[in-house]
Amino acid sequence: MTVNIDEYIKEGTNVKIGLNEWSKYKKNLQKNLTKTLIITSKSCKKYISSINSEKVLEVKEEPTFHSIDNSLKEIYPIYKKIIEKNDEITLIAVGGGSVIDTAKILSLMLSNNIKTALDALEKSNLSELDEKIKTICVPSTAGTGAETTQFSTIWDKSKGLKYSIVSNKLNRTIILDPELSLYLPNQITITTGIDALCQLLESTWSNKADKFSAKSAKLGYQILKDNLVNTINSPQNEESRLSMLISSYLSGISISKANTTLCHSISYPLTALIGIPHGLACGLTLIETIRFNSKDNDKFLKNTLKATNHIYSKDLINEVEDLFKKINFEKQLQFFIPILERSLNKILPLTINSSRANNNPFKAEIEDINHIIEKSINRVKNS
Ligand SMILES: [Fe+2]
Repeated sequence: MTVNIDEYIKEGTNVKIGLNEWSKYKKNLQKNLTKTLIITSKSCKKYISSINSEKVLEVKEEPTFHSIDNSLKEIYPIYKKIIEKNDEITLIAVGGGSVIDTAKILSLMLSNNIKTALDALEKSNLSELDEKIKTICVPSTAGTGAETTQFSTIWDKSKGLKYSIVSNKLNRTIILDPELSLYLPNQITITTGIDALCQLLESTWSNKADKFSAKSAKLGYQILKDNLVNTINSPQNEESRLSMLISSYLSGISISKANTTLCHSISYPLTALIGIPHGLACGLTLIETIRFNSKDNDKFLKNTLKATNHIYSKDLINEVEDLFKKINFEKQLQFFIPILERSLNKILPLTINSSRANNNPFKAEIEDINHIIEKSINRVKNS
């Protein structure tokens, strides 16, 4: 697939796209003298084995205040030794959204001499954080778009809450190489692909959407629609995998401007308190959120319908339903329904995350969300 995304490359980032781009980059890395710290996951270690690094940090979960503080403690002494010798340092993140978000937060903390994640959050609220250390982001999944977003997710799981640490200035090389995602299990491809789908669609109806975010979402949506099913059916198809990485990247570009809205807002306590994977938690309410936003003759979905080439929201709903059916999306959620039903009263008050829910064009009250979740549960039960 040849799609030119030059206009969607952010200042402070350099994007390399294509099969074997990561291998090429690794070879060049061996030639220069930069010291490297690697952040990765267990399943991605095979992709970093040839790099001579100072430290490999394994990420096991989504970043939390606790996990970030522990990771910083592990790498800080090594970082200090490197900078005392005046050597250049690069962080390399190879993995999914949690790995990349962890690396982004650590890069900001090291760059700005911050010792705790809480302090990082406070400083980021004052727009004080720049990425001074170069980070190489190599996504192994096509979902969050974290490689290009300025914000990194950090969780307080005990309270069911999620925060964003925001970077003021980016300093990244992004490598979209399908080689890393060729052996992903379908379950992960579905979860992450539906996260990208929600990000693309939510960004189109967000109150913060503009022409640029809508244009990026339109391209991302078309690519995802044409490739997700094929990727599930032929997981080792390099072209489909690359297309999904590009679509996910574009979802990151769209939400960088427009942010996410109601599906993401509702998803956070579902992930934090009952462990529903992020993409499944967002996708659960996607169709009912489209229906909720379709009030007043689709007035709030004008951008969305333009981006998805539909005239009426019911046609978009049919398209998403069809996509869900083809990838067996709702089956992935069935396991979580009994616990979700039992926990609904506890979860509901946490579903309005103001920084996300306020972007929804139609204000949702708790009763509306209760209704959206109940209808979504029924969809899963009837699938
Ligand atoms: Fe997301």
